Amino acid sequence: MAGSIPLGVAPPSSPGSGRGRRACVAARPADVYATRALPGAAFARLGERVALRVWPGPGPPPAETLREATRQADGLLCLLTDRINAELLTACPRLRVISSCSVGLDHVDLVAATQRGIAVGHTPGVLTETTADLAFALLLAAARRIPEAERFLRAGSWTPERAWEPDLLLGRDLHGATLGVIGLGAIGQAVVRRALGFGMPVLGWSRTRREIAGVAWRELPALLAESDFVTLHVALTPETRGLLGAAQLAAMKPGAILVNSARGGLVDEDALADALRTGHLAGAALDVFATEPLPRASPLLDCDNAVLVPHIGSASVATRTKMADLCVENLLAGLEGRPLPHCANPEAVA
Ligand code: DGY
Repeated sequence: MAGSIPLGVAPPSSPGSGRGRRACVAARPADVYATRALPGAAFARLGERVALRVWPGPGPPPAETLREATRQADGLLCLLTDRINAELLTACPRLRVISSCSVGLDHVDLVAATQRGIAVGHTPGVLTETTADLAFALLLAAARRIPEAERFLRAGSWTPERAWEPDLLLGRDLHGATLGVIGLGAIGQAVVRRALGFGMPVLGWSRTRREIAGVAWRELPALLAESDFVTLHVALTPETRGLLGAAQLAAMKPGAILVNSARGGLVDEDALADALRTGHLAGAALDVFATEPLPRASPLLDCDNAVLVPHIGSASVATRTKMADLCVENLLAGLEGRPLPHCANPEAVA
């Protein structure tokens, strides 16, 4: 990459200008709107290559601000909290590339982007192991009731009379328990590797059948009925939204524990709260929610047997830096008319 040379974009009316071409004359630096400053060296240098405008936060820009700020942009760098819908894309005629600092793209209308010839980049691969670590941390936290135990201690309930009680805060063993993995993509497979190391028999299901070493394939109803723990690793799409509704949760093994570090929309949260309240499920551990941040009125907040964390699946220093770097690489490739390292809709620019 030409480190210090700004990316040139020809004015739309210039002879010979067009999508993906670099102009020889009268080039202006590509205009980029970023909905958040990102960590890492690549983002720090981005302003040397393009005309960069950054939303200062806190939080995501309001929809109208996003639309106005992106109207003249050639590239948009966004997060999973930004709604990139058809209405926004229609208002942004210059936009050639959207680069999201996430693997999930349920916040982007991919069909509308493709129809408009806009390449959409995302960040698979670099967060696989970190997200699998978090799924396993949730599994252990729920199985061994770690947040509950910590609350007990901090509340001053660990008194001399209760110094060591035979039945205090008893949880579930992971070793020997059956884990059902829903979604056998990269993150699901990384969770499988961890589970096998813990001595767990593993059942698996995904929308496309895959044979994975150490995983016994089950159709979804059988997986739900047989698993002591179930963990979700599918993308949120129109087909998977509500994958675990009231009927599926009722079909889970009594006393099972559900872990979700994929997307909140996969699970009916009201039905889950009911299953936790009645004790049909022993616990749940959730990193993601249908609405984020989790509304204060969510019934899940009343369930002591739910471990709830604020969408931190990929939140390690190293991984967030890699995601940011990849996000910038995707953006620059799209602006230069090169193939994106990770493009979710290569057909948009084919
Ligand atoms: C993603 O990248 O989609 C994750 O949810 C972020 O942790």
